[in-house]
Amino acid sequence: MTKYFDEAKRILAANDRGGYTVPTDRLYPFQWNWDSAFVAMGFATYDIDRAYRELERLAEGQWADGMIPHIIFHQPSDTYFPGPGVWRTNHTIPTSGITQPPVFGMALRAVHEAAEKAGTDNARARTIVLFEAALKWHRWWYAARDPDGTGLVALLHPWESGSDNSPAWDVALARVPTTTNTAVVRKDTGHVNADMRPRDEDYRRFIHLVDTYAACGWNPAKQWEKASFKVAEVQTSAILLKAGEDLEHLAGQLGLDAAAEELAAFNYRTRRALLAQWRPNLSRFVSSDLISGQDIEAPTQAGFLPLLALDLDTDLTQALAAEMRLWSDGMKVAFPTTKPFVESFEAKRYWRGPSWAIINWLLIDGLERNAQAKMAETLRSSTLDAIETEGFAEYFDPITGEGCGGLGFSWTAATYLWLAR
Ligand code: GLC
Repeated sequence: MTKYFDEAKRILAANDRGGYTVPTDRLYPFQWNWDSAFVAMGFATYDIDRAYRELERLAEGQWADGMIPHIIFHQPSDTYFPGPGVWRTNHTIPTSGITQPPVFGMALRAVHEAAEKAGTDNARARTIVLFEAALKWHRWWYAARDPDGTGLVALLHPWESGSDNSPAWDVALARVPTTTNTAVVRKDTGHVNADMRPRDEDYRRFIHLVDTYAACGWNPAKQWEKASFKVAEVQTSAILLKAGEDLEHLAGQLGLDAAAEELAAFNYRTRRALLAQWRPNLSRFVSSDLISGQDIEAPTQAGFLPLLALDLDTDLTQALAAEMRLWSDGMKVAFPTTKPFVESFEAKRYWRGPSWAIINWLLIDGLERNAQAKMAETLRSSTLDAIETEGFAEYFDPITGEGCGGLGFSWTAATYLWLAR
């Protein structure tokens, strides 16, 4: 065990670029939003100052309107596309123009609690500054990405989901034109086998959306109007709600009563909206395509993520757990990000089947919350086994267990530190 803890810490140290951690060298050479939130929780198990630092450096990239972007380009690098010149966001610290799942609030609570336990100096003051950043970001989510007040937040780009290449986007993304004003010069396929990465034609769509939003000057209302991709998404909404609960709890601890009330109102709205996305015939929750008005029925892990943030009744939990068991049966490493053997399932192509340590972490928390301790433990031990056998890979082939994508991956190291602690 110690050997793997040491290796995980060594990876985080190697990926440190000065108070923030890159996901992995070369393939992802900047600070990524939700990666850093998981990494902060990993650090919280042994280095509280560094855990705070990770979140503080992420918050440096926050926009005046509250958004925390998906990439913060603290230093230049030419090993990644699309870089700052494609995003054209004109910020002092260059950033991308889209966001990523708001794990930040969950991380802040974990870091704060670790600091309290250790009696760390200055913890309260550091937490309060980060709390303000998190609250501003949650306000941004509700204002910019749920202007109609439905309780579910929408993504305007598949990359905002963190599950960039998921089959959940296939129908909605197919409507996005493949024309771009920007030359698409992919760098990812120079680092990783092209069979594991998105198709070229989808990359052109990803960049078409970037061009469209850059032309809106990154103004949220204009983007909402022009977006040819708009999905009210359950994984992101569940993470927003869990983070919102954690922030509400922190606000209570810190005596920030008005903030606690504001967060409680956000959380209430999202809790109700998420519950309404349950589909008994599928035994999962579904996202909505806001352009076609249709449910997104593609079978992906996102359908189970609401476990993380809801206290479900027993019948519903049983149905959901049975469906999860069906997907995991016969897999060497659960939990597959696409239902095994449906047409869109690909065991090695990222987000179209592979198992990811961070998704497992969220599912484990959700299963525990909903009294599925045994299933949570099975998933926890198989995640740790996969890492011990294959190393700290970006993700795992669920059938063979093989480690795929980038290696020496920060969030896989953080997951190990957290789940094995
Ligand atoms: C990929 C993943 C995304 C992650 C990033 C850095 O783009 O899809 O979720 O944040 O890599 O690890």
